[in-house]
Amino acid sequence: MDILDSLKKIFDDNCVLNDSESLQTFGKDWTKTHQPDPLAIVFPKSTEQIQALVKFANQESLSLVPSGGRTGLSGGAVAANKEIVVAFDKMNQVLEFNSVDRSVKCQSGVITKQLQDLATENKLFYPVDFASSGSSQIGGNISTNAGGIKVVGYGLTRNWVLGLTVVTGAGEILKLNHGLVKNATGYDLRHLFIGAEGTLGFITEATMKLARAPQNFSVMVLAVTDIPALMKVFEAFQNALDLSAFEFFSDLTLHYMHTDKGYAKPTEQEAPFYALLEFDNDNEQREAKALETFEYCMEQGWVVDGVMSQSIEQAKTLWKLREDVSETISAYTPYKNDLSVTISKVPDFLDAVDEIVTKNYSEFEVLWYGHIGDGNLHLNILKPADMDAGEFNQKCSVVNHQVFEVTQKLEGSISAEHGVGLLKRDYLEYSRSPEEIAYMNAVKAVFDPNGIMNPGKMLK
Ligand code: MLT
Ligand code: ZN
Repeated sequence: MDILDSLKKIFDDNCVLNDSESLQTFGKDWTKTHQPDPLAIVFPKSTEQIQALVKFANQESLSLVPSGGRTGLSGGAVAANKEIVVAFDKMNQVLEFNSVDRSVKCQSGVITKQLQDLATENKLFYPVDFASSGSSQIGGNISTNAGGIKVVGYGLTRNWVLGLTVVTGAGEILKLNHGLVKNATGYDLRHLFIGAEGTLGFITEATMKLARAPQNFSVMVLAVTDIPALMKVFEAFQNALDLSAFEFFSDLTLHYMHTDKGYAKPTEQEAPFYALLEFDNDNEQREAKALETFEYCMEQGWVVDGVMSQSIEQAKTLWKLREDVSETISAYTPYKNDLSVTISKVPDFLDAVDEIVTKNYSEFEVLWYGHIGDGNLHLNILKPADMDAGEFNQKCSVVNHQVFEVTQKLEGSISAEHGVGLLKRDYLEYSRSPEEIAYMNAVKAVFDPNGIMNPGKMLK
């Protein structure tokens, strides 16, 4: 029987698509570096349908690629080899909210923002946040262990997963951890599926933990003299307050936000770098502490100017300077790097990488921004308008090895939060030892013996 007919036996007719527009749309993510070429797109509505599909795919030697909000930046959801794309768009039901457990059980196609809003409606808080939260899905967040802008205060997606239902590559349904806070009964398989990029199996449901809602957050943007000063500012504020975010961007990044988006510059005095920090300003002492720390940083010469939000609206406006960077510079088809080292190594790391890029990319504009409070730096090289994309990517990738060698020397990560996918797969050995990669392959073989789950992503 034709494969499409067999798929229509598992799914409703309107849940199997193979028109060329759908194949293009659902066969890629935000990377756009590979030409999508899937066989078909299916839209499951239940765990059982996915189980039936995985069994069928094993029988017919078909490969499956999971597709969430398609906002990934590593090619993890790209289907370029006649795979079947499993789009979670119709698995978007919130199944249960529990105010005592402070948890939400949902299908994995629930949009991140939907989960954040549901928490807020119930006077609670889902703290994992990033610019694409209006499109990304919770299953994709878990599969890449998404980080974003509040990791300093709240940690990664991993910290908020209480339970998972998964369908393994062998076609078994596993219910992992059942929403428990404590469970000391051996290997926690839940954590293997977090950050696995769909290579072991597909996450179909997740129980997510919620936090107490912040009462009244305030944002400060500070103009900072250099990176060592930025780290001193971070240390001073962290000692004074519980920070929920500590981000940075360079003056060139701000220039693009100003010229392309029309966003006002936050301070009168300009500086090479800007820190954006956020804290829960729920009493006067906290605000006094923040202002006292700001003055101390000015006296030390680390900060030349600064602004503090006076309302939630103003806080949101300041946040846009950082949150909208990625979307704004996408017009320049940037070559993206997502690197991390331990926080104390950030100044040495940034100096070393900056030296490499200044030497090798003298004709390109280089933007720095990111989550400096957790050691994660985004390095973006902008494509000159008159340069062909192929030539640009080729020139940039030549320097990858030098950047990754520095990263390796400092025991950093070549992909802090965007994942490995296709784009970083061939560089994995810069962050993982041969022994680790061998164990990763062995784990994959246990859960996905025929190698049908997102093949070629993360591992060769
Ligand atoms: C961000 O921090 O803005 C995102 O990780 C996206 C990006 O790196 O451009
Ligand atoms: Zn980021």
